[in-house]
Amino acid sequence: MAARPVIFGGRATQHLAEKIAESYGQPLGKMVVTEFSDGEFQPSFEENIRGRDVFIVQSTIPPLENHFELLMLIDAARRASAKRIIAVIPYFGFARQDRKDKPRVSIASKLMANLLMAAGVQRVITIDLHADQIQGFFDVPVDHLFASSVFIPYMRSLNLPNAVMASPDTGGTRRAAAYAKILDTGFVICYKQRSKPNEVARMELIGDVSGKDVIVVDDIIDTGGSITKAAQLIMDRGAASVRAFSTHPVLSGQAYEKLESAPFTEVVVTDTIPLRKESSRIHVLSTAPLFAEVIHRVLKTKSISSLFQFDHHT
Ligand code: R5P
Repeated sequence: MAARPVIFGGRATQHLAEKIAESYGQPLGKMVVTEFSDGEFQPSFEENIRGRDVFIVQSTIPPLENHFELLMLIDAARRASAKRIIAVIPYFGFARQDRKDKPRVSIASKLMANLLMAAGVQRVITIDLHADQIQGFFDVPVDHLFASSVFIPYMRSLNLPNAVMASPDTGGTRRAAAYAKILDTGFVICYKQRSKPNEVARMELIGDVSGKDVIVVDDIIDTGGSITKAAQLIMDRGAASVRAFSTHPVLSGQAYEKLESAPFTEVVVTDTIPLRKESSRIHVLSTAPLFAEVIHRVLKTKSISSLFQFDHHT
């Protein structure tokens, strides 16, 4: 009989790992992290993983210890003779550094991929990568999931009569267009110019939103600068309402305060990153059932792309 697969959760994403294991139908694997007095740490698996498929759930959010903990867990699994080591990385940090867009900078997401492969990862499962090409930075299979399978049913349940999709920047145009196609709506684009990372210098709106219920879709809300500026611009142009849907709630700096004071009816995010605090404005939808289903399909070698095929007429 084949050895049972096991799911472990790193410290950055315990909340989600527990829910994934529950959705999958088994308890989370036992592991502990021992800390040294200088801050060094040592994670260890507290059950036998020899010959087993090992899934390690960890979003690589700051601090960098979270990245390193994931690398150490992969290394530990390899040295403990796991059959296959699969990293489930709901939020893939450093994904915004996916190309050399100015001289003398690192392509940090490629570096992260190299480190994961050097540690011994054999497969990666992630969702809404900031840039699709990051898949190609790995020489092992990457299952790239989409939060649309979580967001679309919720968007449909809103029954918005005049819905229009919006992208807060030109980089997100394909995403907004994909949502518009599935929901059979139009879409508009904000044209964003940045003076430096996390600072929006100028924004223009391309398209008509008057009287519309606008849904802004984005992969990341970091400082909240892009999405709140887009919301204000959209309302100034006569929209009936504006909502935000974003996969990864990084929410750094003054993001919570910005989201609270922006004209959003609601801000919908997923649980790839735990929220630092409660907010009446922010509604969290879980990705756990999706990740659990994908784990099941990886183990059974079943199709994953079929999870993202939508009926366009319902
Ligand atoms: C940028 O290209 C991303 O898709 C997000 O729009 C961006 O990271 C959001 O950053 P912030 O919330 O700081 O404006």
